[in-house]
Amino acid sequence: MATERFPAYRDDETPYAAPSGDLWDLSNNEISLPPPPQVLSVLRSESERAHLYPDPRAGLLVDALAGHFPVDRGSVLVGPGSAGVLQQLLLTLCGPGDEVVHAEPCFDAYPLLIAISAARGVPVPLTATGEHDLRAMRARVGADTRVVILCSPHNPTGTSLTPSDLHDFLVGLPPGVITILDQAYVEFDGESDPRDLGLLHAHRDLVLLRSFSKAHGLAGLRVGYAIAPPALVARARKTAIPFSVTRGAERAAIASLRERDTLRQRMAYVRGQRDSLFKHLSDAGLAPLPSRGNFLWMPLGAGSERFAEASARAGVKVRAYPGQGVRVTVGNEAAHRALIAAAHDFSRAAT
Ligand SMILES: Cc1ncc(COP(=O)(O)O)c(C=O)c1O
Repeated sequence: MATERFPAYRDDETPYAAPSGDLWDLSNNEISLPPPPQVLSVLRSESERAHLYPDPRAGLLVDALAGHFPVDRGSVLVGPGSAGVLQQLLLTLCGPGDEVVHAEPCFDAYPLLIAISAARGVPVPLTATGEHDLRAMRARVGADTRVVILCSPHNPTGTSLTPSDLHDFLVGLPPGVITILDQAYVEFDGESDPRDLGLLHAHRDLVLLRSFSKAHGLAGLRVGYAIAPPALVARARKTAIPFSVTRGAERAAIASLRERDTLRQRMAYVRGQRDSLFKHLSDAGLAPLPSRGNFLWMPLGAGSERFAEASARAGVKVRAYPGQGVRVTVGNEAAHRALIAAAHDFSRAAT
């Protein structure tokens, strides 16, 4: 299998050690706030039933999501994180010799999950401004292409695709090529309504991939979902590891969906923190890209690893993409202060 070419997910990372042992981890695109009290209380009471298997269909969560949007419950596929759902979709749609077109750099699980499905990844470089090169991606769609993965807001650059770009791209694809639009960060965007499924209703070969890990802050529970054509959902459900959405994850996700005001307030907080960090890193001369996610991308090229080492020395772990750039998650004020100081030192040393 082509996975021989890959380490297991992030197995090859060397953790940076901060001199004090205290490290703010801004490398994972997690939200810096713990789950709200209502979600914590559901989790606590579910822990008393940890000796019981969960519902293998996670039926209550499927119902809750179907009501939330609203969509037909047959259109909802839930799984262990959106990465787990993506794996189910790729296993369903792809086999040996098939191709999956995606942007590069991208969420680093894509190449691994594509390899697990026995398909071949076709990476297409982002533009110089960190955006999907949709024209180049379309040109790489051929007879063997089964899936195109798009990501908006895009990890790691934070750029987003406009509805009209998406529409034009989707109408230009051959019928039967499935586009998986990864929207793990969509709630941070602020410019669009995450419950608006207009694009999905207009394009039958489109799948929306969503996560409870990011805006909902439940990364440690592993729960995500897709909204997809019912026939595809029915097939993809067969690839699930039995009981892969735990009872606690299911109930916490439902409770979090109900906390709409809390989510709105948290998104406003993260966007405020993001805009302030953007300004400070720009002032330090690191030229971050405007971002719609809960992270910023700095195209530091050959200086990327040096910057990651410098910020680790200042107590902040960031994510370096060697030779390309650095991605930093929006965190709290204290982490930002340390990072901004490291950014100024780095810029001074470079001049
Ligand atoms: C673009 C993107 N998609 C999917 C995921 C996976 O998220 P989940 O925790 O839902 O598996 C991530 C995680 O960082 C991501 O960045």
